[in-house]
Amino acid sequence: MNRPTIISIVNHKGGCLKTTLTVNLGAALARAGKRVLTIDLDAQQNLTASLIGPIQWVEGMRTLYDALLDESSLDDLIQETPTKGLDIIPITEDFAGADISLVNVVGRETILKSCLSKTKRLADYDIVFLDNAPSISLVVMNSLVASDFFLVPCSAEYLPMVGLSLLSESIMKMKKLAPQLAALGVVLTLYSHNERICRQVETMLRKEIGDNLLSTKIRVNTKAKAAPSVQKTIFDYENSAKGRGTEDYTALAVELLQRLEPYAEAARVVNG
Ligand SMILES: Nc1ncnc2c1ncn2[C@@H]1O[C@H](COP(=O)(O)OP(=O)(O)OP(=O)(O)O)[C@@H](O)[C@H]1O
Ligand SMILES: [Mg+2]
Repeated sequence: MNRPTIISIVNHKGGCLKTTLTVNLGAALARAGKRVLTIDLDAQQNLTASLIGPIQWVEGMRTLYDALLDESSLDDLIQETPTKGLDIIPITEDFAGADISLVNVVGRETILKSCLSKTKRLADYDIVFLDNAPSISLVVMNSLVASDFFLVPCSAEYLPMVGLSLLSESIMKMKKLAPQLAALGVVLTLYSHNERICRQVETMLRKEIGDNLLSTKIRVNTKAKAAPSVQKTIFDYENSAKGRGTEDYTALAVELLQRLEPYAEAARVVNG
């Protein structure tokens, strides 16, 4: 059975473009012919609101929260988005209780992994992106344990950069639970070439983490702020190959696929 590559988008720092990157990197890869599933794991429901609009929870509705509690398949939760090849498992307001409800479950960090292993439709996808909350919570741990890789968006400022070492330490502590987990690197976001601090942060990070810093940067872009309000990806909102976001996310998708290629090659060798 085909198994997709699962990637957690993580950073405990808020507002560094985890959700925007999930939407637009997902869209860029879907436009490149990949089949992409995104999963909203943040009770703020920003991914859901950005891609298909907020969903009102009503009594009797089966949600991702219910599936996690039952440790059951996610097949019936998958929905299409307006972008062909880009699907979503949305969440509703009940997800806010997930961290507390899961805390007493045996094997509490592996629940999402178990749900995904029961999801037959996962075989329809090439890549799965998990959009996380700005925290290091039990749900984030579940995301990392279920993932092959993690990708860290970081805004090009001093304090978020300092926070990266704490994030790295927290993820390292999880290695026992997630031995498969590999780093895809850090993407600088909200970058402005005119701001000296952005250039300084880039230089410092390059020195500190070398190639773990991706060369693509996501530039400041006012259109990216407006696009989610009409459930459009940056590609549909800009509707121009020369759009700033269109250029940035296309370049990021290309770089990501290059980084994944050696792993894909290794898997091809192992699987014959
Ligand atoms: N390129 C951009 N330039 C400027 N603002 C942007 C850009 N892309 C997204 N934004 C805006 O920045 C804000 C934060 O983005 P986003 O919600 O993706 O961050 P996040 O890391 O998911 O936040 P949280 O930690 O709360 O989940 C949003 O209001 C979004 O519309
Ligand atoms: Mg978010």
